[in-house]
Amino acid sequence: MCGITGYIGCRDATPILIEGLLKLEYRGYDSAGLALLDNGTLDVKKKKGRVSVLAEEVDKHPFRATMGISHTRWATHGGVTDANAHPHVSSDGNFAIVHNGIIENYENIKKFLLDKGYSFSSQTDTETLVNLIAYHYEHRTPPDSENRFLEAVRKTLRHIEGTYGFAVISKLCPDEMIAARKGSPLIIGVGKNEYLVSSDILGFAGRASNVIYLEDGQIASITRDNCDIVTVSNAPVDVRVNEIDWELENAELGGFDTYMEKEIFEQPKALENAIRGRISDDMSTAKLSGLNITPNELRQFDRILFCACGTAWHACLAAEYLIEKYARIPVDVEYASEFRYRNAPLDKNTLVFVISQSGETIDTLEALRESKRKGFRTLAITNSVGSTISRESDGGLYQYAGKEIGVASTKAFTSQIAICLLVALYIGRMRDLSFAAGREIVSAINSLPRAVESVLAKASGIEKIAQKYTSYEDFLFLGRLAEFPIALEGALKLKEISYIHAEGYPAAEMKHGPIALVCPECPSVILANSDDISLKIVSNAQEIKARKGPIIAVTDRPELFDGIADDVIAMPRVHESIRGIVATVPLQLLAYYIARSRGCDVDKPRNLAKAVTVE
Ligand code: F6R
Repeated sequence: MCGITGYIGCRDATPILIEGLLKLEYRGYDSAGLALLDNGTLDVKKKKGRVSVLAEEVDKHPFRATMGISHTRWATHGGVTDANAHPHVSSDGNFAIVHNGIIENYENIKKFLLDKGYSFSSQTDTETLVNLIAYHYEHRTPPDSENRFLEAVRKTLRHIEGTYGFAVISKLCPDEMIAARKGSPLIIGVGKNEYLVSSDILGFAGRASNVIYLEDGQIASITRDNCDIVTVSNAPVDVRVNEIDWELENAELGGFDTYMEKEIFEQPKALENAIRGRISDDMSTAKLSGLNITPNELRQFDRILFCACGTAWHACLAAEYLIEKYARIPVDVEYASEFRYRNAPLDKNTLVFVISQSGETIDTLEALRESKRKGFRTLAITNSVGSTISRESDGGLYQYAGKEIGVASTKAFTSQIAICLLVALYIGRMRDLSFAAGREIVSAINSLPRAVESVLAKASGIEKIAQKYTSYEDFLFLGRLAEFPIALEGALKLKEISYIHAEGYPAAEMKHGPIALVCPECPSVILANSDDISLKIVSNAQEIKARKGPIIAVTDRPELFDGIADDVIAMPRVHESIRGIVATVPLQLLAYYIARSRGCDVDKPRNLAKAVTVE
């Protein structure tokens, strides 16, 4: 949600900032801008539209500087206009800022500053922040302060309510950049006589392997050869430098047209990575040392609470089925955004799990923090090594799915469920699950990458089916039991990338309302990959057929849908524990091909952004 990059060093800053922005564009793509500082001149360019539009502008009017800041925006306060694009400059012209987050008390600050003679040219909350820094520099920080710029920012932040990750530069301090964070991620890349700043390590574009993760409440003063960090209350911070593995962060298109397509096809590999090294030698259970919890401690919990948002929340619902079935522990699933505010009563022996691909989603992070404040043990499943959620949880499991760039989550979702299955197996084996049943599940887990590959091999057939449905504007996605969360996810994928209205429902529940939507203009995608309940689902399909609703059946028993379904996607017969994961893949492909043939930008769907770091 908004991407920030900054550079201070000896090289030409512009290509470094633009390349960084291109890598961060998945975080927001309404407008982009940069501010360069050289010899007391602040050069600001900002444009509505993608980073490519800014890059053209920069090419037309080049400005050479060895420090600068840049931003790609996902609009919160103020529409998508050139004026609202970042960077924002203080009305005295001395300070430029790029900001990710929301300043909640900006209206009061704005009134205060208007009274003091400051002026505003945008509708953003950010412009109040940069003017308040200018005000504190000018009026509240003695000129002989040891570091007047840092001091002005620090004093400013004591008056700010809300969230921020920002970088600010000033004509008055031409060799220093200040960066600060509360609630929105910010990372500092350490080079030789240079530093980079970014919302995500991707923004370093491979230029820094050593990084400092700025924590909430910290402010960094960065020069070409030094980085000092203090807290908002002025306590010094020990700077810890971490090394990053660029292989894990590799995010090139590699011959695919879009990241989403690439990531769908990467799923066999992502699943292999999720499983690797996590199966016991006797092949009957999982090895999950990352949980950082002893078997004895784990046995004490008699309830698990999962919290997440969006697709990751669907993975939690899938986890509920798997854990309740194999580990026989009751599982509750909460939207993180609701949980953090609703003060839900939790049993004292509850283990809290959060799931987040980015590891930065603010609601999930706050749900985690609230659980910790209440004294609960917290674990996280995340795909982002070093992310805030991974750092703040008591233990957890990395997905190792490789960077996910497409805004619509695909490989992260299936890999999250695979990890939840490992958790179900691990806890199950400590409780009632037999050795033989454990071995059966392990064998299913090991077969997962190949099973997914066999569905991917059907992509061209699924594309042909998709072509028939591109002009429909309403869809139902129906599934039962473990396939209900998959139906929800199928509906979400279709709506977010094709802008088609779609609803996921438990197949039988459909009769209690959504059946009113059924008509020749509203196709239903029906998941039927469960032996026990397939015949019931066929009855649901008959009810739709009787009302002339088109049907696409995704089933490992195609014969059951003869004469009922208009189209059938035949699925491999797999063990029940992995059915949900395998059944996800055709729904991703269906959504992808429908969206492509409608001409939609699947990697950057309208209004969305990856890593939602604002409330
Ligand atoms: C949908 C999608 C979002 C995310 C949600 C949580 O395709 O990607 O719904 O799943 O914003 O994101 P993470 O997993 O990063 O916490």
